[in-house]
Amino acid sequence: MELKRAVGESLNNFKEHVEVVLAKAIADLESEQPAASVKDRVDLSLPGVIRPTGSHHLIRQVFQEVEDIFFSIGFSIVEGPEIETPYYNFEALNIPEFHPVRDDMDTFYLELPKGAPGPLLLRTHTSPVQIHTMEKRQPPVRVIVPGKVYRRDNPDATHSFMFHQVEGLAVDNDITFCDFKGTIDYFVRKFFGEAVKTRYRPSYFPFTEPSVEFDVSCIFCGGSGTAQSGGTCGKCKGAGWIELFGAGMVDPAVYGFVNYDPKKVSGFAFGMGIDRLAMLKYGIDDIQVFFQNDVRFLKQFP
Ligand code: FA5
Repeated sequence: MELKRAVGESLNNFKEHVEVVLAKAIADLESEQPAASVKDRVDLSLPGVIRPTGSHHLIRQVFQEVEDIFFSIGFSIVEGPEIETPYYNFEALNIPEFHPVRDDMDTFYLELPKGAPGPLLLRTHTSPVQIHTMEKRQPPVRVIVPGKVYRRDNPDATHSFMFHQVEGLAVDNDITFCDFKGTIDYFVRKFFGEAVKTRYRPSYFPFTEPSVEFDVSCIFCGGSGTAQSGGTCGKCKGAGWIELFGAGMVDPAVYGFVNYDPKKVSGFAFGMGIDRLAMLKYGIDDIQVFFQNDVRFLKQFP
């Protein structure tokens, strides 16, 4: 009984206290002046807050550089599917089944539901878009094809199982090896600077004839093969040259797959690895950094 009285008294005191505080708060609010204008409350002369903005990934930036250069000499940009049929990825490029080149492009095949039409694969290069383009357009054709490609390569400092390529294709009725050489030399000087030297070595691709590997003088040692420290240049391993990409004159057999007349048309094609191009230009020695999304790396290329 004693306890009940004491608790009741405390509760009454608390209730009175709350009523007094509330009444005061309401009276204060009601007596307040109307809000001052924004201009009076904010000091407009204070410096603003600069919020950090993102930027394009270095690979995207290099794609853009390459695209701009080819765009300026009359190439347009086309894209194609990353999931392909063996016909476009291989056969129409003059790479029949059991051709040894297929071993170099160890391929990811898609697992398809039973009964679904197939096989389907992840394209191993951007070259199938040559075929899609020629199927749709008559010469003159002058396109570049930026995109992602996939190979079952073990990841290391220069290999990734997903990487980026830019394909180039020019077909008309009078294109010669000189046009090809002029175009590539122009691109390389715009991309790496006027001082760079270039050379072509015979090579082999089933879809170009003749085929070449294209080298540039080593960007790191200036082509001398000697590092600044006096030792052998680690980037070109003393050769003074770095292999850049494969290319050549379109093999007439390919025209047969797209109903072009090989007697009337000629052209050239090339396929460059964008990741390796970016590594060379920006002195990056491990391709894997492109895929780790470490902000400390990304921030170096605003
Ligand atoms: C091709 O892919 C041909 N389609 C290129 C071509 C196109 C030749 C048109 C003639 C005419 P290759 O397999 O050499 O060729 O690859 C081209 C470039 O891709 C290489 O020079 C290299 O820079 C890059 N590359 C190849 N494999 C990898 C990989 N696993 N990781 C990163 N880059 C790679």
